[in-house]
Amino acid sequence: MKMEHPSNVASDQPRQPIPATPEALLSAVLASNERTADPRLRHILDSLLRHLHAFASEVQLSYAELEEGIDFLVQIGKATGPEKHEGILLADILGLATLVGLIDAKKALAAGGTEPALIGPFWRANQPLRPNGAQIASAQTPGDKLFVDGRVVSLDGHPIPNARVETWQASPGGLYENQDPHQEDMNLRARFETDEDGRFSFHSVRPAGYAVPVDGPCGKLLGLQRRDIMRPAHLHFIVLAEGYKTLATQIFDADDPNAYRDVVFGAVGSLLQHFDVQEDGGYVLNLELKLEPGTMRVPLCPLP
Ligand code: BEZ
Ligand code: FE
Repeated sequence: MKMEHPSNVASDQPRQPIPATPEALLSAVLASNERTADPRLRHILDSLLRHLHAFASEVQLSYAELEEGIDFLVQIGKATGPEKHEGILLADILGLATLVGLIDAKKALAAGGTEPALIGPFWRANQPLRPNGAQIASAQTPGDKLFVDGRVVSLDGHPIPNARVETWQASPGGLYENQDPHQEDMNLRARFETDEDGRFSFHSVRPAGYAVPVDGPCGKLLGLQRRDIMRPAHLHFIVLAEGYKTLATQIFDADDPNAYRDVVFGAVGSLLQHFDVQEDGGYVLNLELKLEPGTMRVPLCPLP
C-alpha cells in the first residue's frame, strides 16, 4: 500500500512563481515552515532559516563552497562511531557546546550555582560504580597522586544525598583509556553515590592536558584556522540527582601551562582551581558542586 507522507496534504501556499530575489525566496521558505505543528520546533526552524539565509547572503556563498560545506558535514558523520564522536567535537570547537551550557545554566549562575562545562566526546556509558574513597587509577598508571574530596549541595548549601556522580579524566600521558592500548578498560573512570552529607571522594592521579583528536574533519578545520589544539588538564563531572537539574562540568588545573588556552572554550570562570600540594607530595582537590532545583535529565552519552 502506498503510504501518504504526513505533510503531503493540499497546500495553502499561493500557486505562483517565487520572484527571483533573495528576499522573496526567504519569504517563501519561511512560509513553508508555518504549518510545523510543534511550536518550539517551528520557532527554532524559523530562526535557523533566517540566520542561514542571512549568512549565505553576507558571505556571498558560492555553489562550490556550499558543496564543500555539505561534504564537511558528511565527513563529520563518517568520522563518528563507537570510538569517537566527531559531531560532539565539532560543537565543542565552535564554542557552541559551551554557549548552550551557559544558556541552560543562566538561572543557576545568577544564584551562585556551579558553572557548567561541556561533556565532550569521551564520557562512557556504564562507568563502574565504586565506593567512596576508592582508587580509580590502576596500579600501572604513572603520575602524581590526587585525592578528590567532593560535596554535592543545593543552591542554599544543603547536602544532596544519593546523587550519582560520574567522573572521568585523561592519564598523566594525556590520553583517555579508550584512546590508549596501555591503559586498562575503564581506567580513571567511575561512578559514585553521595553519602547522607552529600559527600563523595576518590583517589586518582593528577591529569595532564592533551590535544583534542585531529585525525578527522575537525582537525582539518583547526589546521585551516591555525588554532591551538590543546585542552588544559581537567577532571570531568556529571551530577544527577532527583529534583535537581543535571550538572555537567569540569575542574581545570589552574597551574597547567595551557590553563588559559582551551581549544573548546570550556575553562570558564571559577572552574580553574589550584590543586593543594600535601606533605607527601600528592595533591588534594576540594570541591563543592552546587545544583539548581529542576528536572534531572540524563545527557546523551557519546561512547558505549
Ligand atoms: C574532553 O574534555 O574530553 C574533550 C572535550 C572536547 C573535545 C575533546 C575532548
Ligand atoms: Fe576531557
